[in-house]
Amino acid sequence: MNGIRQHQYLKEIGITVWLERKLAGKETTGFNVKSVSKENRLLETELDKNLDYLSSQVQTCNFCELHKFRTKAVFGIGNKNADWLVIGEAPGVEEDLKGEPFVGRAGKLLNAMLLSMGLQRKEVFITNILKCRPPKNRDPKLDEVEACGNYLRQQIELIKPKVILALGRIAAQNLLKSTTPIGKMRGNSYLYPGSDLPVVVTYHPAYLLRSPTEKRKVWEDLKFAQNIFRGLI
Ligand code: URA
Repeated sequence: MNGIRQHQYLKEIGITVWLERKLAGKETTGFNVKSVSKENRLLETELDKNLDYLSSQVQTCNFCELHKFRTKAVFGIGNKNADWLVIGEAPGVEEDLKGEPFVGRAGKLLNAMLLSMGLQRKEVFITNILKCRPPKNRDPKLDEVEACGNYLRQQIELIKPKVILALGRIAAQNLLKSTTPIGKMRGNSYLYPGSDLPVVVTYHPAYLLRSPTEKRKVWEDLKFAQNIFRGLI
């Protein structure tokens, strides 16, 4: 189902569709992510090579001051041909040490969230808005998000997922260039700017660890994401 038909269908069944027209244009991304179909996927070896090269660029990146504080940059991990791209905020202390996203307590909960959808961690690709840990896990600054933005855009371009799952406010707002509170973003279907790639927003697993009663809402979001993935919405 293409993005326009999907949006029409969503409107018909009474689901609010949010997409600022100016954000849907190619000019906001700086490159073309329109053709994110599996058919256009790169040959496996070429994909490996390109992602490995991108990862090596991230490991030595010094585009913002965060490189001064990192132990390891965290490029992302998982299936390079994944249908699902999971995007969090930034590495925490354990991720910084290991060079892998979501390996702490929030990571364990993320694995459980994925399993509830029948997905193993290794089947999806997991990354973050920022590839380096901000000191004391503070919120990312705008210049840091911008400095890292091109890496994420290239990851999306290469992996060509079918759905993006944005975890938490920082991921959702930065991906969709929005200032809407996450509670209001949930439950709606969005498109990654300049593409017909659906983005589903849900709470961050670290927030769920602090507020476990919100897990029900996350389950609803995950079911919504699955329905979008299956073309049912
Ligand atoms: N929180 C995130 O957003 N990303 C990680 O990799 C770990 C914790």
